[in-house]
Amino acid sequence: MNKRVGIAGLGAIGSAVAKKLTSDGGIKGFELKYISEPKDKSHKNINKVSFDDLVAQSDIIIECLPANIVTQLAEKAFKANKDIIFISSAALLIYPQIMDNLAKSKSKAYLPSGALCGLDGITAMKEMGIKSSKISSTKPPMGFTGAPYIIENNINLKNITSKTLIFEGNALEAAKGFPANINVAATLSLAGIGAKKTRVEIWADPNAIGNKHQITVKSGYSTLNASIENMPDPANPKSSVLAAQSIVATLRNMSNALVI
Ligand SMILES: NC(=O)c1ccc[n+]([C@@H]2O[C@H](COP(=O)([O-])OP(=O)(O)OC[C@H]3O[C@@H](n4cnc5c(N)ncnc54)[C@H](O)[C@@H]3O)[C@@H](O)[C@H]2O)c1
Repeated sequence: MNKRVGIAGLGAIGSAVAKKLTSDGGIKGFELKYISEPKDKSHKNINKVSFDDLVAQSDIIIECLPANIVTQLAEKAFKANKDIIFISSAALLIYPQIMDNLAKSKSKAYLPSGALCGLDGITAMKEMGIKSSKISSTKPPMGFTGAPYIIENNINLKNITSKTLIFEGNALEAAKGFPANINVAATLSLAGIGAKKTRVEIWADPNAIGNKHQITVKSGYSTLNASIENMPDPANPKSSVLAAQSIVATLRNMSNALVI
């Protein structure tokens, strides 16, 4: 029997996942049954429900929300021991109660690679002990519009005329300062050596067309250098098209005979 899927948040990522679940044969083993979305948005004839009903009626929940809403959903999912796929990885650092409550529940939480690449190598390197982990992310300046760090530091993004380092710190500080822009750093830290040891550089480049993420992770026996360039999602320039597809890949991996 197909697992009943509930999507929370029908924005750029949620709607791309909904489309994959409901077109071209869908995703084997899963059926989209419920959506939670306060705005006047819908997908085909899928029922729109509250978080309470989404959690109660779904076998697996896909979180595609703004970071500050994630705890509300996670709390309910964990209380009901429901499995959940998180795309807002920054929320897992900003609100530590999410991981604390996950540990107390029987739920399984999945963290797709999002806009990043190379997590497979990093999780294997973790077994050898990671010595250092760093990410350098570059986006067009306006991709950082509204970020708390930009507002608090009075950075005028329109005045940036050449590639500029706008933030340097650890992944926890990056998540708090850029909750909607640098989920990749949070994902890297959760896959690797943790938020406080993961170094983050954020660059604003007026000549950048898309979003570029370069990671360097070192263990005693391996050095991983990976780089990915993503075009911004036309539906939300702060997101990348790849992020939604990483959720689809996670679902396929859950039902495929060959798990990669
Ligand atoms: N892991 C990654 O690499 C990665 C990459 C890109 C984006 N993200 C994150 O994924 C999340 C979703 O991104 P997006 O581009 O789809 O954002 P979006 O703004 O396009 O969509 C968010 C949707 O959530 C809805 N929403 C708000 N409050 C809600 C509530 N209480 N209940 C239900 N729905 C609610 C909004 O109306 C909106 O439709 C964001 O947190 C973003 O930062 C992660």
